[in-house]
Amino acid sequence: MSGDMDLLQTRGTAETVHVPVLFTEVMEALEPAAGKLLVDGTLGGGGHTRGLLERGAQVVGLDWDSRALVRCAPLVEEFGDRVHLVRAAYDTIAEVLAGPVLENEVSCGKRKVGELPPLVDGILLDLGFSSDQLDDPQRGLSYHFDGPLDMRLDSSVKKTAADVLNTVREEELADIFYVYGEEPKSRVLARAIVKQRKERPLETTKDLLAIVEQVYPPKLGLKRAHPAARIFQALRVAVNDEMDTLERALPDAAWCLKKGGVLAVISFQPLEERAVKAAFRRLCVDELDEIGRVKTPAKFKMGKKVMASDAELEANPRSRSAILRTLVRVG
Ligand SMILES: C[S@@+](CC[C@H](N)C(=O)[O-])C[C@H]1O[C@@H](n2cnc3c(N)ncnc32)[C@H](O)[C@@H]1O
Repeated sequence: MSGDMDLLQTRGTAETVHVPVLFTEVMEALEPAAGKLLVDGTLGGGGHTRGLLERGAQVVGLDWDSRALVRCAPLVEEFGDRVHLVRAAYDTIAEVLAGPVLENEVSCGKRKVGELPPLVDGILLDLGFSSDQLDDPQRGLSYHFDGPLDMRLDSSVKKTAADVLNTVREEELADIFYVYGEEPKSRVLARAIVKQRKERPLETTKDLLAIVEQVYPPKLGLKRAHPAARIFQALRVAVNDEMDTLERALPDAAWCLKKGGVLAVISFQPLEERAVKAAFRRLCVDELDEIGRVKTPAKFKMGKKVMASDAELEANPRSRSAILRTLVRVG
């Protein structure tokens, strides 16, 4: 709790540099308005949450990263009891809505335990990391900056990226790069890392970049994304257990919707996108009992996928890989 108190004292001191992606499309999907209760499961810099609040909705905003809550604290001053900020992972939305999370609550107007209704009008998950996080060299998320190989969303995650690189078996490392980064040279990279760590453990983003560049010499003139992007992404996904969290969270979030409610998910990489599509498809299929009667008490319908407009792509290059998918509870 003392960490949270520190946060309260420093509230509002950090400004966000994150530009929310697919902003108009998210507003169209969630249709925020007075009387609606919405959840932003990934507060980040608070851009989407601000949009929802400005249109009159009540918002419960979650982020696992305490620094995101610090950034968003001014929203509480501005919108008062209509905004509730909670430090929590988005796979705990149902628990957060249901009740006592006050130990984790940084600031939340005057919510009392049990005051919020358990079903909501809409939920947003804008996956991945914010620009504030990606551009912070101390987090070690980007090969563009030199910094410690940390990559943890929060200090409660036990292993840093350096711990993973320096301790897991070669085969496991190769699997991380292959599965989470779709890296074609996963085995070669894993071998090079294991060879390097026998001499000296990897500590910084530059250490990892140097190995990637041994395997993919920059002189080969790769015009597309730097291969380090895939490697850094794969490692980040593994460190924070992002895929398991997402797969757990999607059905749980869907079950928190009222009839007519919308779950909107923005993904940024093919692995996430496939997981979202598959989970939504599963939710749209009725579950039958042993004699063929429909036993699913809710019905869902999937919307069309939406991508950034040319204007947004030009204004914010980080929107280029963003895909918005929606699931509506129709019955
Ligand atoms: C792309 S940013 C969201 C940006 C936000 N929509 C905005 O408009 O500023 C993603 C956020 O999700 C948070 N996040 C990632 N994984 C999470 C998880 N499992 N639970 C809660 N928050 C998470 C990150 O800390 C980050 O702040």
